[in-house]
Amino acid sequence: MMTTALSPEHSGDETPKVKDYSPTSYITHSNFEFCGYSLKIARTLSASLGVSAYVWEAGIALCRYFEKEKISFAGKKVIELGSGTGIVGILAALLGGNVTITDKPTILEQIKNNVSTNIPPACRHRLKVRPLTWGQDHTNFPTDYDFILGSDIVYSLVSQPSLIETLRHLSNQGATIYLSSEFRTGNGSLPFHEVLLPDYFNCQVVDRLMGKDITVYKMTKISTDPADGL
Ligand SMILES: C[S@@+](CC[C@H](N)C(=O)[O-])C[C@H]1O[C@@H](n2cnc3c(N)ncnc32)[C@H](O)[C@@H]1O
Repeated sequence: MMTTALSPEHSGDETPKVKDYSPTSYITHSNFEFCGYSLKIARTLSASLGVSAYVWEAGIALCRYFEKEKISFAGKKVIELGSGTGIVGILAALLGGNVTITDKPTILEQIKNNVSTNIPPACRHRLKVRPLTWGQDHTNFPTDYDFILGSDIVYSLVSQPSLIETLRHLSNQGATIYLSSEFRTGNGSLPFHEVLLPDYFNCQVVDRLMGKDITVYKMTKISTDPADGL
């Protein structure tokens, strides 16, 4: 695999600055500032990484939401689904969480790379990177998370049932789920949030970026214990 580090660095500018390249894959970096932390995120642009090779606006929106609301993950058990570059989980670890960052197996090398760049050695023990393909591996993971995070993971009709199955398995009554989604025509993300998820979760819109059609949802699991209704 041929890789090329691009320069200059650009802050949150997701358009790769590249000319006259014809490699099958190359690495580019972007810089971000959240909650007083500077993050340097590397992305491997290649056919095999696909949509995972971008820091999506919904991911940036979720990080900004944590910043705006001063969300603390200190001492909390956190899992991120479909992490891509790792940016959201890395921020959650910097904000004190014991974080498991997950994605499909082929994406993990990119995430591990970004973890080693952005997480100081003293905090590394609080962050794990693990394979989790929804609907396949979720039962390998515990069910006692305090927070479940996901940004731009609701974009394919095909994966919706396995994503719901995974969220239902990982969550408990005390878990807070933050999902940030961009509504694109025909990707089914609006009915997923507004119709399907409310069958299992209490869903609340906590932030909305109107110009970009991005919504941040806060969710908790609906109790199935009849005693809770008394
Ligand atoms: C659009 S990207 C979003 C990446 C990142 N969360 C962000 O906001 O920048 C969607 C991510 O979900 C992951 N993904 C898609 N389907 C998945 C599945 N069935 N199981 C696990 N991860 C999946 C992809 O590998 C990809 O990294």
